[in-house]
Amino acid sequence: MSTPITPYSASGVATAVGIHDLAIATGSAVLDLAHVAARLGVPHAKYTVGLGQDHMSVLGEDEDIVTMAAAAAKKVIDRHGAGGIRTIVFATETGIDQSKSAGVFVHGLLDLPKQVRVVELKQACYSATAGLQFAASIVARSPKERVLVIASDVARYEIGSGAEATQGAGAVAMLVTADPALIAFEPATGVYTHDIDDFWRPNFSDVAYVDGKLSVSAYIDATVGAWEDYVTHGGAKFGEIDYFCYHQPFTKMVTKAHTKMVAHALGKEAEVDRTQIDPTFTYSRRIGNSYTASMYIGLASLLDQGDDVAGDRIAFVSYGSGSVAELFTGIVQPGYREHLRTAENVATLDSRRELTDAEYLAVAQRKIADVTDYKNAHHTAGPFRFVGVTGAIRKYEATA
Ligand code: HMG
Repeated sequence: MSTPITPYSASGVATAVGIHDLAIATGSAVLDLAHVAARLGVPHAKYTVGLGQDHMSVLGEDEDIVTMAAAAAKKVIDRHGAGGIRTIVFATETGIDQSKSAGVFVHGLLDLPKQVRVVELKQACYSATAGLQFAASIVARSPKERVLVIASDVARYEIGSGAEATQGAGAVAMLVTADPALIAFEPATGVYTHDIDDFWRPNFSDVAYVDGKLSVSAYIDATVGAWEDYVTHGGAKFGEIDYFCYHQPFTKMVTKAHTKMVAHALGKEAEVDRTQIDPTFTYSRRIGNSYTASMYIGLASLLDQGDDVAGDRIAFVSYGSGSVAELFTGIVQPGYREHLRTAENVATLDSRRELTDAEYLAVAQRKIADVTDYKNAHHTAGPFRFVGVTGAIRKYEATA
């Protein structure tokens, strides 16, 4: 049980602001990393133990960041309605258009009122965290407003590369409100930016370029740097934090970063308490990297695990290559368990169709002859599908 430092406050009005609801979505197919290990001739344990990953979600032909985002956001709107939502922030680094926000497609699919501002944010895996900060400021200023923050991404690397096993796909939709049911943000944050070429995806490429070893050290440097800034800005003491929820490109990355963080904050002799990070891993081990959504899928995993963690303080450690990091804390709210989606989340993962390696490769290596005009096969089991492109315009539809 942790004592909040002060409620989140803007313009002198103390208001608890934070995450009221959190829903997730992912691809409707899944690949066991045993298949990748067998094809690449590496021990399966390199993935399950060395990277801490078991499976990765795979999108069908008619799934993309919009269909996943709309599926997650629909769950939130179905439960809470659209009243009071005047802002939708869509965080992604696998954008589908250089101009139009993917959030506008979601707005259309969910038939939301016209009196809404919609915008897309980008900074690798970090931008959903910026979205939450923007949302919190809006709600603190105007507590009747509710902001829908969506993060949706597809992690794709070159087939056969060392990074292939760290692919994945997923989306989260979070409703940010006053007096939230799940997490109340605390005001202190630590931020860190360093211009570095550890991972990037140029406009001409469908897959990311990555300097894997550099990305690992850049992640650690940035998250420790964000911790330092958090301390400088009046954050909680390390020992006052109950859980650490990190960005999860692969879960072993979190163990590496947290080991450094503990040594930095408490000294080299200090032991890592795995119970502070392990409960955040359950869903990511099965989904893979979902870039902007990954840390918040880690939060769903932590809240859905059996123990009652009401009153506990969680440190969120957000990292986006290139690089930007932010560390902030939140308090789990009393009664939060009545607002979870545990059964729904487990069903979302369990219902994915298991692919053979050949089926996965067929989707991953699909070549489209004319990118201005094509149709997608019906693969999705979700509520929305990406029908195809007609006259260079992306077309979506509800499936039911
Ligand atoms: P690699 O170089 O092929 O793997 O790819 P490795 O040789 O470093 O082995 C990985 C681990 O497996 C090692 O453990 C091995 O010892 C172990 P470690 O020493 O690191 O603790 N291992 C085994 N363990 C058990 N049994 C065995 C066995 N064999 C080996 N038989 C790499 C690894 C991460 C470089 C690669 O997957 C990659 O490039 N991934 C993509 C980049 C990435 O995810 N980086 C993470 C930090 S950057 C980030 O998080 C941002 C990102 O999400 C993007 C964004 O912000 O937008 C990526």
